Amino acid sequence: MLIEKKIGNTPLTRCPFLSDKFRTNIYIKDESFNPGKSSKDRAAYFMLEDAIKGNKVSPGGTIVEASSGNTGISIALMARELGCRVKIFVSKTCSAEKRALLEEYGASIEICDNSFGLHVFNSTQYQAQAYAANNENAYFTNQYYNSANIKAHYRTTGPELWEQTNQRISHVMVGVGTGGSISGIGRYLKEQNSAIRIIGVEPINSVYQAYLVDGALAHSGLVHDAIEGIGRTFIPGTFDAQVVDTIYQVDEERTKQCAQDHRADTNRLIGFSSAAVLAALEQNIDELKLSSEDHLVLYFPDHGDRYLQKLYNQTEREDSETFETS
Ligand SMILES: Cc1ncc(COP(=O)(O)O)c(C=O)c1O
Repeated sequence: MLIEKKIGNTPLTRCPFLSDKFRTNIYIKDESFNPGKSSKDRAAYFMLEDAIKGNKVSPGGTIVEASSGNTGISIALMARELGCRVKIFVSKTCSAEKRALLEEYGASIEICDNSFGLHVFNSTQYQAQAYAANNENAYFTNQYYNSANIKAHYRTTGPELWEQTNQRISHVMVGVGTGGSISGIGRYLKEQNSAIRIIGVEPINSVYQAYLVDGALAHSGLVHDAIEGIGRTFIPGTFDAQVVDTIYQVDEERTKQCAQDHRADTNRLIGFSSAAVLAALEQNIDELKLSSEDHLVLYFPDHGDRYLQKLYNQTEREDSETFETS
């Protein structure tokens, strides 16, 4: 695929403002430099490559995914080059901008209802699976259970962070949605140096923190705070708890405030889940006990320009069903 050459190798930049503020070395890995403007290009590319090489779908066939967020956009962008059609099952609250972008990239869209979670009849996940099962030459990439999602970050993001920090990375903080990013990054970095701290970030009432501590789902039926891209009500197959040290939780309001403060301080617009990572850093700075020798990377999966309304204007609120987007 031509686009392969442009995916990854995104910049890692030392942030002087945050480094001074927290008296350590803080770097930002900016995934908005990918062709589809998010980290999801990596997972999409690896899942599509696996599908084509494994003859799971052939040109003329249909790639199917359940996504109201960046994964759908990345798949739609790339499947064109493969000569495949794309069908994305989106939740009814998927924003008009994202639907328009999906259609612009040639995807057809099915609207579903995720109000009762991702494993019920009308959900995006269920409908995508059913469509792929019942249609010839259709393949469900299934980001929540596809090992290529983790592999993408194990093969690309992890090595980039190791090399770009000249092997000095001591901490990385990553928002957790499907878990693919943190699992692939964590697996690679732990293999290089097991002392590197792999820290996940999720919204309040999401299930990963309790799972990491107790090995079980602590609750059911709770609605987690709505921070686009991160937080889950179930543990996907693409979350590898073995390579994660800690999960911090942040709330939606504090995250929004953090995005606005960061803009005021640095004149930069950051994405929703990026702001969550920054909020988690601020909230846990004492516990982290960072020294001037440390090199902490904040993983920023996309750019603030995808959240102008939600984060920066505050004029539009969507209902709480938008929470499980990836
Ligand atoms: C903006 C954003 N942040 C974070 C994530 C979480 O990444 P992962 O699914 O690899 O855990 C996603 C996933 O789609 C995302 O779109």
